[in-house]
Amino acid sequence: NHKGSKSNDSRFLDQFLPCSSSLSLPGPTSYFLIGNMMELKNDHLPIHLTNLAQRYGSIYRLKCGTTTMVVLNTSEVIREALVKKWSDFAGRPISYTGNIVSGGGCNISLGDYTEKWRAQRRLVHSSLQRCCKKSLHDVIERQALHLLKVLMGYKGRAVDLSEDFTVAASNVITTLAFGIEYDKSSSELQELHSCLNEIVALWGSSWISALDSFPLLRKLPNPVFARLLKEVVRRDEIIRRLLNNYKSQDEKNQDVITGSLLQGLDNQNTGDKALLTDIHVHMATVDLLIGGTETAAAWLDWMVAFLLHRPEVQERVYEELCTVLEGRYPKYSDRHRLPVLCSLISEVLRLRPVAPLAVPHRAIRDSSIAGYFIPKNTVIIPNLFGAHHDPEVWPDPYSVFISLGGSTRDLIPFGGGARLCLGEAVAKMELFLFSAYLLRDFQLLLPESETSLPDLRGVASVVLKIKSYKVVARPRPVTNP
Ligand code: HEM
Repeated sequence: NHKGSKSNDSRFLDQFLPCSSSLSLPGPTSYFLIGNMMELKNDHLPIHLTNLAQRYGSIYRLKCGTTTMVVLNTSEVIREALVKKWSDFAGRPISYTGNIVSGGGCNISLGDYTEKWRAQRRLVHSSLQRCCKKSLHDVIERQALHLLKVLMGYKGRAVDLSEDFTVAASNVITTLAFGIEYDKSSSELQELHSCLNEIVALWGSSWISALDSFPLLRKLPNPVFARLLKEVVRRDEIIRRLLNNYKSQDEKNQDVITGSLLQGLDNQNTGDKALLTDIHVHMATVDLLIGGTETAAAWLDWMVAFLLHRPEVQERVYEELCTVLEGRYPKYSDRHRLPVLCSLISEVLRLRPVAPLAVPHRAIRDSSIAGYFIPKNTVIIPNLFGAHHDPEVWPDPYSVFISLGGSTRDLIPFGGGARLCLGEAVAKMELFLFSAYLLRDFQLLLPESETSLPDLRGVASVVLKIKSYKVVARPRPVTNP
């Protein structure tokens, strides 16, 4: 419920609660994140921020160049900011590089909390819901079956599945968005992926974030930034082409997101101040493609890797699938009867939330978190990775599958409040159906040629990914329903 009254109530109540606003937030006195990031060596930023929480507590501040950030490290403080006080913290920091990748703030994920943004999010949300209701289950099932065929084609060879996962996740979104399904070898698909991948990786790199925190650096030549600009131009060309192709079709189809979004533009009340234009449809499409591809694909990579570490869990899931489904493929409605599979899904989301630091928020007015005064414009980093490794909640948070079957109350992989992941429903159905189909038909094994299991530390930019590894997908015996 994002109605204004709730937050007003909570702000009203806050006046009467004991507040340590006179205390300053704990945190390193002088901390230049970029410099420290260079020294991270084996640890990625979410791990580093989580380690700092052991010293400074569940909420601390960090100074990075001209910006002060507040890092939230438990689900309690994250929920307080993102859910309970959502209307205080629904903003996004306005940054030099963010503006460049978001078409001047015209997308959902990086756009600030304005009337136009709210209209854009409402339009995309309703278009997504409408299309998902019509076809999401069928679209995912089709991609899951295709994935099984691709794996069968490998005939037990050791392969890196990450590209196949990316194609499957991406095809779900492109089918929903444009009614287009790509083949792995399609040059348009490869162009789209290489470009979106590059943008996510480059934008998350310290060479780019340094430009936001240290404006003077913008005057110096920066080849990484030049590459980012080039990829943004390439991205916009591809999306424009896809949208123009759609517009030139004789039959307009409101059952695909693009059709529904364009219809939404036409239906706008011209008296409405928050008029959206083609650029908002263009940038929302970018949001869905980026948000919808990298995340689900990265999660599938993590799931397989964890199962290679814990083969007995894979066997438990397989036995459950055989017993409950009696040979047929699952439907999403079967999830309540598959608790081991559902626990596996939650546990992988806990261990490796694929958007480990969510997306930074900004305080749009003076407020407080955990009793500390938070001035307007403070940048808030929800450390979801830290919250999922909170020793107060999970006694041994780093051990694998410790909480299989445990409570999911403190999991917050999709964020919350006004900025809750727009694709949460899509993602949940994808994770369930893709993993159920995969584990029903294949046993995933470490190749004999490999001497070590996949490295579970991961590499974090905006998305937390696992380093590439190979796996053997051995077909399970055929079961007749
Ligand atoms: C935002 C997680 C899949 C679209 C986010 C955020 C998180 C997240 C943590 C930031 C929330 C915040 O700012 O507080 C995930 C995870 C996924 C996933 C873990 C899969 C395992 C998807 C999919 C789509 C999507 C499939 C699209 C169909 C978006 C969009 C936003 C977003 C558009 C920006 C929302 C806003 O700023 O209002 N996601 N996501 N995500 N996600 Fe996802």
